[in-house]
Amino acid sequence: MKILGIGCALPPQVVINNQLEQILDTSDEWIQSRTGIRERHILSGGTVAGLALEAGQEALQDSGLTGADLDMILVTTAQGDDLFPSVSCTIQQDLGANCPCMDLHVACAGFIYALDTADAYIKSGKASHILIVSAEGLSRLSDWSDRSTCVLFGDAAGAVVVGPGEGLLSCQLSALSRRDILFGTYTGLPCPFSPPEEKVAAGIRMEGQEVFKFAVGISAADLLKAADKADIPIAQMDWVLLHQANRRIIDAVSRRLGVTPGRVPSNIHRLGNTSSASIPLLMYDLYHAGLLEPGHVLALSGFGSGMVSGACILRWDKPKPSQVKDPVHSLHFT
Ligand code: COA
Repeated sequence: MKILGIGCALPPQVVINNQLEQILDTSDEWIQSRTGIRERHILSGGTVAGLALEAGQEALQDSGLTGADLDMILVTTAQGDDLFPSVSCTIQQDLGANCPCMDLHVACAGFIYALDTADAYIKSGKASHILIVSAEGLSRLSDWSDRSTCVLFGDAAGAVVVGPGEGLLSCQLSALSRRDILFGTYTGLPCPFSPPEEKVAAGIRMEGQEVFKFAVGISAADLLKAADKADIPIAQMDWVLLHQANRRIIDAVSRRLGVTPGRVPSNIHRLGNTSSASIPLLMYDLYHAGLLEPGHVLALSGFGSGMVSGACILRWDKPKPSQVKDPVHSLHFT
């Protein structure tokens, strides 16, 4: 499998930390120093499927393929606009595709799981071209009265089209049942036969420090295993793309692995944690900044509620874009 095209979509509304100061007992200084986040995009008026469609269309166009060429659409999302149909089915027609569609529900590690799934379909000969879209609207799941979680998340979609090739060098997936440290709930319509105590308030609940420790440990361990499987030491990776959950997690993983300085890009300052969309968005920014070159080796690592995690080693094969996009897509480097 290799990446043929890449796209992204951001809802237009940007919410800066100072705006959160108006509704919560928080401060720009606290959020920036504890998380690295300065602002995030919030879905207001739009839909998760709308973001997914926009990102998917850009990735298709970038790949030179059309929807009719797709053998499968894989969407990763914490929650689409509806429980069903899936986001992938919702966008299929507008993409001009006529292929199987499924949504993967793997929280923030969704993009890595989707790459591995697509690779398996392509290797087995069941599919040649697959569109992967990671589309998230976590602002709709957040409890906006809980300052310890709602300040972290942003909405976005990132997409890639993959096809046969030698790009995915290794993959390492894992899952550990830890609902106690991070979970998100949403309420359905009340059922007259349910006892009242079954009604749970919606929102994302998290033991921040436990998640932090878990994330640093599992991300570093996954990356080492994936690098070992690919037989390429971490020090030789051209880029290490880590899930954008917290700037301090990114720095801690980089330190633990001894990554070559300047090789760990980050866009969390302007996007926040966009769950499964964060890695394809980072890849998009790196590509459009003209920093990804054919032959570059990338290590990717994602982790999230479950707790699920995954890392993979990818050889980049696409030529640089004809035009460099900046400064909108600014990046920081560790
Ligand atoms: N503004 C101001 N104060 C806040 C705050 C906010 N937005 N959120 C929490 N605080 C307060 C807490 O109430 C606590 O106050 P107290 O000492 O009076 O009790 C204090 O800040 C310290 O809280 P703590 O939870 O120890 O902070 P932290 O340094 O661990 O940072 C997180 C909190 C959530 C930023 C951090 O733990 C984290 O990023 N964890 C990982 C989360 C994550 O990545 N989740 C998604 C995984 S995909």
